[in-house]
Amino acid sequence: MHHFTYRDGRLHAEDVDLTTLADAVGTPFYCYSTATLERHYSVFSRAVGAPKSRVFFAMKANSNLAVLSTLARLGAGADTVSEGEIRKALAASIPASSIVFSGVGKSESELAFAVDAGIYQINIETEGELHTLSRIAAARRKRQNAVFRINPDIGAGGHAKITTGSEGNKFGISISEAERLYTVAANLPGVRILGLAVHIGSQIRELDELQAAFGRLRELAERLAAQGHRVERIDLGGGLGIPYEMEEAVDHGPGLIEAYAGMVASTFAGLDAELAYEPGRLIVGNAGILVTRVITLNPRARKTILVVDAAMNDLIRPAMYDAFHDIWPIREPALGTPNRLYDVVGPICESGDTFATGRTLPETQPGDLVALMTAGAYGAVMSSTYNSRLLVPEVMVHGADWAVVRPRPTYEELIQLDHLPAWLSTSR
Ligand code: LLP
Repeated sequence: MHHFTYRDGRLHAEDVDLTTLADAVGTPFYCYSTATLERHYSVFSRAVGAPKSRVFFAMKANSNLAVLSTLARLGAGADTVSEGEIRKALAASIPASSIVFSGVGKSESELAFAVDAGIYQINIETEGELHTLSRIAAARRKRQNAVFRINPDIGAGGHAKITTGSEGNKFGISISEAERLYTVAANLPGVRILGLAVHIGSQIRELDELQAAFGRLRELAERLAAQGHRVERIDLGGGLGIPYEMEEAVDHGPGLIEAYAGMVASTFAGLDAELAYEPGRLIVGNAGILVTRVITLNPRARKTILVVDAAMNDLIRPAMYDAFHDIWPIREPALGTPNRLYDVVGPICESGDTFATGRTLPETQPGDLVALMTAGAYGAVMSSTYNSRLLVPEVMVHGADWAVVRPRPTYEELIQLDHLPAWLSTSR
């Protein structure tokens, strides 16, 4: 369910006309819908029984302060993976007591920052990290709450590059190591191990692998508890997938979420532990679009190449994961508009800068606006200035209101990021 709909022949974000917005902000730009964000968060948190269970929004999916603040007001915590993300979460008024720090390689200074901030939990991924964290916290006369991220040797997800749960992947502690490390941790002064975490991949739309991984986690939790260890927290990660075909998104919303919540409830029934979740894509994916303008057309024998002003540096998912994003015209096609076959590409000089190949779209002209749908997750956050292109602005809509929540930088700002060394800065 999302709030991007046609009204009077033009696509709107909630009550805001995207054509008007494009004129005001310029293209390309990301546009987020508050109502969609709020709905997704509420549906998910209700399904999993928050606040009894805890929801930490995986802010790697979208770390705009306006997105974070919107979710924070609904009670969301943050799942973070860097000092930058922790700082942004705090800046968005998410309390340290609602912040989890995950990640396969946290630096000592990042761990120290997290301990000083007093965050809720650190998800430890290696034995080395266990010792480092203990040393850092003990030096501050603190004992940091933590869990072990387990690699259950079950991977899943929409693409090999986002599968994380297999033994061969770089993530987490194997099940066989976990029992030994619990014992090691019991003798360390700076950590308090309170449970387990798992995250096996992203864009998962079948529950079988998740269920198998959660089953292994439960068995491990029971073995640990039987040995007298504390297993009070089970962090189930994120990974639940979303429909990228928007037709499906309209009526498909809660089905998978309900099934997932039911599966979790039965898998962990009777286990006395707090359950935590780290959804990212599910919350923000369908709440954002990338609006772009057609620059030119390049007709070929069998199809037309449609060059738009957004590029792979603005939305890298198609180039990086062969990801599908629906493309909607901003002006609703009039009845009888013919369909044509298009490749939709950006202006960057590499063939990978392609958003869609062989896509059937209503006939489109230079100057027309189109939206790359489902771009709220892993869109703006993965953008870059490749080709010295300016980072794309982000706009948030709230009913009939809208605000630029990240302005487009100026070319001066872009150029000033670089500094000349002394030997080049004097004129010859
Ligand atoms: N927790 C952990 C430990 C994670 O590594 C991730 C995502 C999440 C939670 C959130 O997963 P989600 O609910 O969003 O699936 N850039 C890729 C996705 C990378 C996901 C990385 N980890 C993409 O655009 O598809």
